[in-house]
Amino acid sequence: MGQAEQSQAPIEELFNPHSEDYLHDPVSQCLALLQRAPLVWYEPWQAWIMTRMPDIMDCWKREYLSSDFYDWEFAPPRPPQDQWSNFERALIGHSLLADHDHHRLVRRVTAPAFSRNVVDKIQRAIEPDVKKLFDDLGTPEEFDYIAEIAQHIPFISITRMVGIPEKYWPEIKQVIVTFTETWNPTISEERRAAAREDSNRAIDILLQVIAERRGAPQQDDFLSALLKVEAENEGFEEWDIVTLILALIGAGSDTTLVAQQWSVYALLKHPDQIETALSSPDAFANAFNEVSRWSTQSKMGFARYAPQDMEILGHSVRKGQMVLLMPHLKDYDPEYYPDPERFDVQRTFNPDVQFGYGPRYCIGAALAKRQLYLTISELFRRFPQAQLASEPERDGSDHNAVVFKQLMVKTRG
Ligand code: HEM
Repeated sequence: MGQAEQSQAPIEELFNPHSEDYLHDPVSQCLALLQRAPLVWYEPWQAWIMTRMPDIMDCWKREYLSSDFYDWEFAPPRPPQDQWSNFERALIGHSLLADHDHHRLVRRVTAPAFSRNVVDKIQRAIEPDVKKLFDDLGTPEEFDYIAEIAQHIPFISITRMVGIPEKYWPEIKQVIVTFTETWNPTISEERRAAAREDSNRAIDILLQVIAERRGAPQQDDFLSALLKVEAENEGFEEWDIVTLILALIGAGSDTTLVAQQWSVYALLKHPDQIETALSSPDAFANAFNEVSRWSTQSKMGFARYAPQDMEILGHSVRKGQMVLLMPHLKDYDPEYYPDPERFDVQRTFNPDVQFGYGPRYCIGAALAKRQLYLTISELFRRFPQAQLASEPERDGSDHNAVVFKQLMVKTRG
């Protein structure tokens, strides 16, 4: 720790994402942390926080830190192979998270399965489900956007995208809610164990779906695309497909739910920009960056773990220590974004790091933007006079993001 740092108030007195203050004004706390130092020790989480963009981008790009939860000093011990349940087999054995070389192989061979063409087909499959959600909603005077629409979108898009038949939907639903809890460092071991059980049940279903699909004709979904990848690529096997589907569930559920609610809230707060934001999928993609910047909803950032004792940005970091990358700290820095208080869906984002950067850039980025565009366009097509019914109450219980308890929308002006 440098002398300047020592003479300042402990950072936990200025920055606490689980505080009531953060829930209502994250910006001043984020700026305080950003200004503190490039790498800050955060006692309450026993973790380092990397605060500045060039360092975060370098870390994303060079991957000198591990993304594997089991490399964390406080993770449960990695079980020996003869005790693996399906969950460990999927996450450790063939993990997207564990081994850099294998991760790169998986990303390379599966890239065609995420091409624009496949995303177009998936979008066409999701569209009727989204329309049905709005049909079922009817034309109430007001409704909770989160309960009626947003909450259903991750499940619909992931099951449709992967190609999980509807008969399995009731059984697989729970895991889409709890999967990210299997490695969430901030919750109890009991809750993580329960989430692992849900995952094991879901893996059984996935293995059955894969077996059935092998005997069925090729379909326009991700599973068919992955079975083709498997047939054509040595080193990419059935368990890689399971792992990848779990990764999609893990990374695509909460993120989508948060993105849905903030996009609707931000646009309803700035009705003069709705038309520009929704004028095309590309315009919306940019607007979504602005929604994310303006909302500053992230609490934890992205976790990494030191693979060995190492020197990072002038500090000695011990093997197993957590390093949190927090790209959102810059979001109201006037040097980064001129006039940061202004919400502007046409703001320029360069570099655009909303979906990460480098080898672990979000696989689902194209799909996430498309499904948001689709749903939010449908909302304003059905209810062109939509307004916020009231200022929504914020929910402090979410570990990763600032979210709302409800988002009541009035359908008539
Ligand atoms: C608006 C919603 C989303 C946002 C803002 C988002 C953002 C991100 C970011 C920033 C990363 C990099 C994380 C890191 O460096 O640790 C990431 C990774 C990832 N995302 Fe997304 N994501 C979203 C939706 C989705 C969806 C819908 C899916 C899947 C259908 C998905 C699948 C993934 C996967 C699998 C990874 C890990 C990639 C890897 O490790 O190679 N994401 N996402």
